[in-house]
Amino acid sequence: MIEDKIRWNERHVSRPMSDDANKTLVKYIEHAKVGQALDIACGTGRNTHFLCEKGFDVDAVDISDYALDKIKNHPHVSKIEADLDTYNITPNRYDLIVNINFLNRRLASQMKEALKQDGLLVFETFIVAHGEFQMPTTNLDYLLRKNELLHLFIGLDVIYYEEKIETNRLGERVKLATIVAKKS
Ligand SMILES: C[S@@+](CC[C@H](N)C(=O)[O-])C[C@H]1O[C@@H](n2cnc3c(N)ncnc32)[C@H](O)[C@@H]1O
Repeated sequence: MIEDKIRWNERHVSRPMSDDANKTLVKYIEHAKVGQALDIACGTGRNTHFLCEKGFDVDAVDISDYALDKIKNHPHVSKIEADLDTYNITPNRYDLIVNINFLNRRLASQMKEALKQDGLLVFETFIVAHGEFQMPTTNLDYLLRKNELLHLFIGLDVIYYEEKIETNRLGERVKLATIVAKKS
């Protein structure tokens, strides 16, 4: 949706994202076979850049052309400007799928189909919280419920799952759920 693109372009300017790759991805990268990766809602590319350094070919998808422009041009990176509300993921294509700080429940079953055998999923995003927590939105469509990732990715072999409280780099307390899982 064009409104989402404009809103996210503005947000990338007003609230630039970290350049450091996601810690869970860094920790579990050795569990993935080096090959074709998908970075869902890749933003300005911190995880895409990391995967590229590790030797992956990366499909980096985002709605924001501003964010995609910030990703270094590299022969092993395909930047895909697309609305993930309607984008469909190619089945049986990926050795690794990364989804950090983004939620579109419609894509969960497609992600499972898109993993090759032994493909790895690294998924982390915000979970509903109340009180002093700083959440990116109050729209429940974009926030996980407790244990929801385990339900969304039922059928995969779970390597790691956690719900945790973290302080982000702006000093805000956030609540996150993380899953690392493999397709057997
Ligand atoms: C919080 S950022 C996370 C970026 C990146 N995954 C990271 O961890 O740095 C969320 C990203 O989702 C993208 N996004 C939001 N809605 C989208 C949509 N409908 N289709 C594609 N991308 C979308 C935004 O442009 C933004 O880059």
